[in-house]
Amino acid sequence: MLLQSVVDPVNPRKILVTGGAGYIGAHTVRLLLQQGYDVTVVDDLSKGYRHNVPDGRLCQVNLSQTATLAELLRQTGCQAVVHFAAFIAVGESMREPERYFANNVGGSLSLLTAMLQAGVRHLVFSSTAAVYGTPHETPIREDFPIHAVNPYGESKVMVETLLRWFDEIHHISSVCLRYFNASGADPEGHLGEEHQPETHLIPLLLRAVLTGQPVTLFGTDYDTPDGTCIRDYIHVDDLAQAHILALEYLLSGGPSDQFNVGTGAGHSVLEMVRAVEEVTGRKVPYTIGPRRQGDPPELVAASEKLRTRLGWTPRYADLQSIVEHAWRFACKSRP
Ligand code: UFG
Repeated sequence: MLLQSVVDPVNPRKILVTGGAGYIGAHTVRLLLQQGYDVTVVDDLSKGYRHNVPDGRLCQVNLSQTATLAELLRQTGCQAVVHFAAFIAVGESMREPERYFANNVGGSLSLLTAMLQAGVRHLVFSSTAAVYGTPHETPIREDFPIHAVNPYGESKVMVETLLRWFDEIHHISSVCLRYFNASGADPEGHLGEEHQPETHLIPLLLRAVLTGQPVTLFGTDYDTPDGTCIRDYIHVDDLAQAHILALEYLLSGGPSDQFNVGTGAGHSVLEMVRAVEEVTGRKVPYTIGPRRQGDPPELVAASEKLRTRLGWTPRYADLQSIVEHAWRFACKSRP
């Protein structure tokens, strides 16, 4: 189903965004506002930043506060929810699984309960390619086996399961967007990646360029053409736009579904090093380290479903734009 945006400037659609002060959430809020939606952000600021949210839009609430969420949904008259709020660090989830299940699964259950109480029937969910674990082949299609290999990925699988039952029993329709490697930054440089601690490749390569402190490349002995891992890097604005298309799909009566969000193109870690060197005009100082536990050699999305069913086309499918925008942001907020 191809969709047209149906935003009415006199009566804008009202959307609640959880985790809207974080990296992907804030980019989505920015695009929603630019496209005429009326947005309320819920974030407890445990990971996100107040400075990412436009004035007057932030409610500092934790997802465990079901009654507060229900009241907020009623008061604001929200028609749908985009749900980002979650912990995202795979390594940390291997050390403290209880925190991941409590926050990611418990928080989502509380949110769904609040939606039921307030009569809100549509949700776009921030899922992950980690639900596939180590796939038997790539590109990865949405119908591949679900088999998370860490508590972070498992917590997202569990929420996808909750959503299936909430649709079946309570008729809450949902779209699960399974992200590949979110990267880049708002082209105008207002927003970007600010994880604490940062674990993602592109910001770490840029930091190495800025500080001269070498970044460690995790393994060069994989069964890939240059021995380093291959990933599908997707510009955060293209990812944000996928959420808006998913929202419109649900608000137009589309049934619950799951979509990969990736470009379908894979790039190795060494290719990323070269891309950063080209954009910055400087050498990336790096050392070679051992493999990071749990890294699959290759994760690339089959992205046809999102393109054909929701009419999604990435605007920044080239690495150059992704790295350029991330570099602009990194220079602004130098370490
Ligand atoms: N890498 C390095 N050195 C670093 C950091 C990363 O070599 O300092 C490598 C990793 O080993 C990997 C690639 O760069 O091969 C990308 O690593 P990221 O940490 O940037 O991203 P991941 O592919 O590990 O993780 C992303 C999301 C996760 C999600 C996963 C799904 O960040 O939330 O994709 O597969 F679970």
